[in-house]
Amino acid sequence: MKHSKIVVALMAIKAFAAVPTFNSDIAPILYEHCIQCHRPGQVAPFALLTYQDVAKRVGLIATVTQKRLMPPWKAVAGYGHFLDERRLSGKQIDLIRQWAESGAAEGDPRQKPSPPQLKTGRRVHRRGSLLRPGGRTRYRAVLCGPARLQCRAVRQDR
Ligand code: HEC
Repeated sequence: MKHSKIVVALMAIKAFAAVPTFNSDIAPILYEHCIQCHRPGQVAPFALLTYQDVAKRVGLIATVTQKRLMPPWKAVAGYGHFLDERRLSGKQIDLIRQWAESGAAEGDPRQKPSPPQLKTGRRVHRRGSLLRPGGRTRYRAVLCGPARLQCRAVRQDR
């Protein structure tokens, strides 16, 4: 009896320690995968920079990440890797879900990362190759708009 109480107490401590927070777990994911579009002046309709921005949309964010609608990435998984692949890992998706289900805590402000400084304007991506149906085409560069939604490949042979 005493033993099972200890086990329950240990489980409670473990569950408490495992609750993800915005500052320590969620902000780093969003700053890496979302804010290039979800910040002022970019294509997405709202910013995901602050706790307030994110907490009021927590349910929607959990849904779109679980369905892999966000970040937008059209390539189907399992057919090799692309340069600059834009996908969340299963672990990151789970963390977002757990955060939403556990009440979307903000956490310790000392753990909050600063949003990275992102460049604006057109970007030129690395030289690489893209897989196309029916073969592989090599590209010299892929030019992208600020949000990488509209990308244009410059063929190597030109
Ligand atoms: C390449 C740009 C881009 C990236 C990266 C991106 N988003 Fe978006 N997001 C958009 C655009 C554009 C829209 C509005 C149009 C749409 O819903 O497709 C949007 C809409 C949304 C919506 C609203 C969906 C709805 O049904 O109203 C949510 C929530 C969202 N994004 C969350 C995220 C999260 C979380 C990430 C990172 C894991 C992310 N987005 C990454 C461009 C982006």
